[in-house]
Amino acid sequence: MKVEDVKKICVLGAGLMGNGFAQTCAQAGFEVAMRDIEDRFVENGLNMIKKNLSRGVKKEKITQEQMDTILGRINGTTDLKAAASDADVVIEAIVENLDLKKKVYAELEEICKPDCVFGSNTSSISITDMASATKRTDKFIGMHFFNPVPVMRLVEIIKGYETSDETYQLIDGLSKKLGKQTVLVNEAPGFAVNRLLLPFFLEAIFTLQEGVTTVEDMDKAITLGLNHPMGPFTLLDFVGLDTTLFIADYFYKEFQDSKYRVPTLLRKMVRANNLGRKTGKGFYDYSQKPPVPCSFR
Ligand code: CAA
Ligand code: NAD
Repeated sequence: MKVEDVKKICVLGAGLMGNGFAQTCAQAGFEVAMRDIEDRFVENGLNMIKKNLSRGVKKEKITQEQMDTILGRINGTTDLKAAASDADVVIEAIVENLDLKKKVYAELEEICKPDCVFGSNTSSISITDMASATKRTDKFIGMHFFNPVPVMRLVEIIKGYETSDETYQLIDGLSKKLGKQTVLVNEAPGFAVNRLLLPFFLEAIFTLQEGVTTVEDMDKAITLGLNHPMGPFTLLDFVGLDTTLFIADYFYKEFQDSKYRVPTLLRKMVRANNLGRKTGKGFYDYSQKPPVPCSFR
């Protein structure tokens, strides 16, 4: 298949990344099915897309008519078969859990057209491992986009052990059609960007746990001292602490190296459902405007 042959894209997951994919693909002219497991998650995803597009209309970057056309290309659903059976490409953006992802890929294998390509947006997990749940290991690839998807310009493309060059060319072309630049990365936990980002996140949490600095001061230090747009705690809340913990546990298991040990504070916060912006509370409390740092035990 060539990129010109791609008409319909199935996006799995309507969360942070999934709704960003649906918006970006629809803006590029593709027909999109965005699937989540419950209606309320689908609704949340659609509302986020509407909010983002409305901001574009207000700023006069797109017209109301264009917004309506983009929304008209997105079908939100909980029905996996309806979403995936006639898709040319599936972009998977469900939770960062290997067993769950493999279960979904095994289901997709039965539902999708034989030439449909599976692209996972995993942040860390082995593409080869996920591909082993299917019979199309040559048509399985990692396409790691960044949050927020409509804004961030990079896609890391990761070939699994048996990914074909044709699949790589297709996904490279598709990513470019979505307005992104690509880098090809060999398979390894966290690929290139998260190999650096994860230790940065974990070390920031250790400094907090040890009382070296505060949430506010560390964020101030990194934004002013390194010119990052967001400090590590703001970015952790933005990414989601559940996703970060999944990645951290995966790094520790795969590398078998204690340098990736998880700070207990991160685990406690996830157990308390303080996952960051998506639950309204993480390192900051988002019920306040502007958000205020939380206290920790
Ligand atoms: N969805 C869609 N568009 C968004 C958005 C969102 N959630 N948030 C902001 N935007 C758009 C705005 O509409 C605006 O668009 P225009 O320029 O067309 O007007 C643009 O982004 C800039 O937004 P703002 O002016 O409101 O805010 P900002 O200048 O502070 O930028 C930001 C916001 C782009 C998020 C910026 O703070 C930033 O770059 N933060 C760092 C993001 C980052 O590091 N992401 C990677 C996370 S790690 C990851 O993704 C990998 C992983 O596996 C965990
Ligand atoms: P999220 O928690 O915001 O959304 C995940 C969504 O997947 C939820 O709405 C959940 O209901 C849904 N889901 C669970 N099981 C499903 C299934 N069987 N079918 C369809 N949907 C299902 O998570 P997210 O931040 O969007 O992350 C999704 C993926 O993208 C993960 O693999 C993550 O590692 C990766 N990723 C995340 C970021 C980030 O900054 N958050 C960046 C890059 C990549």
